[in-house]
Amino acid sequence: MLSGEIISVISGKGGVGKSTVSANLAVSLARQGHSVALIDFDIYGSSIPKMMNIGFGPKSINNKIVPVESHGVTIMSMGFIVKNNDPVVWRGPMLGKVVEQFINDVIWGKLDYVVIDMPPGTGDVAMDVNRLIPSSYQILVTTPHPTASHVAERAGKMATNNNHDILGVVENMSYFQPPEDDTKYYIFGKGGSEHLALALETEVIAKLPIIAPKEGDFEPSIYRKGTLLFDKYNELAEKVVDLIRNKNSRSVQKPV
Ligand SMILES: Nc1ncnc2c1ncn2[C@@H]1O[C@H](COP(=O)(O)OP(=O)(O)OP(=O)(O)O)[C@@H](O)[C@H]1O
Ligand SMILES: [Mg+2]
Repeated sequence: MLSGEIISVISGKGGVGKSTVSANLAVSLARQGHSVALIDFDIYGSSIPKMMNIGFGPKSINNKIVPVESHGVTIMSMGFIVKNNDPVVWRGPMLGKVVEQFINDVIWGKLDYVVIDMPPGTGDVAMDVNRLIPSSYQILVTTPHPTASHVAERAGKMATNNNHDILGVVENMSYFQPPEDDTKYYIFGKGGSEHLALALETEVIAKLPIIAPKEGDFEPSIYRKGTLLFDKYNELAEKVVDLIRNKNSRSVQKPV
């Protein structure tokens, strides 16, 4: 069974950095001493095994699954059950079974936080996960572009309709800042995340710059010490811990 605070990372559109944010948030939380799981439910575009540099799948013992560990994080991924990067042509009920298995049949151990990389949009798997995990904290990832944030609003509304609590909006690929000067270039425009936060009555909890991967870096997705994004993800992890602590203490104080 899953324990701990569940943080689902969602977006309206694909390609905005949902998996990158999920993986780096999980690694930063683990680095700060928390016990953390990362679940990749993105069946059609699973990228966590590659991002976390995992070349093998989980083992099973007595019908239970032993998750994989990388960067101090316990991981299960839809990518582990899709062989050779084959396109997935599964139908809804089969997907629902896998989602259920990931939640119930994995030896997770005691966890403080579970970060979930959700599939983009509001499709079947997203609905299954919402059904099986009826309450979670959600982080919405968007780029600053108005279209991306408009679509993300739909995903966010689905979350609130399902009683999930939105922690905040992460604006990814906010700006580009060349290493040699202080000028920020807003390549994808400005204001998308603020608009989204306003529409969902939440706040922007991070603005993450665009950083080009270093040539020859075989693991470019997890940002290393000494990079700007390493620091930004540390700050995000601290903020997420604080926000959840505050929300939990407020809900304990609520009159029944
Ligand atoms: N801040 C950033 N700076 C530079 N590149 C980034 C940044 N964030 C993400 N990327 C790159 O953008 C691409 C898309 O990111 P990612 O795979 O995390 O998005 P996604 O929302 O999970 O996409 P999908 O919908 O395909 O699952 C990747 O190649 C990733 O390395
Ligand atoms: Mg992804």
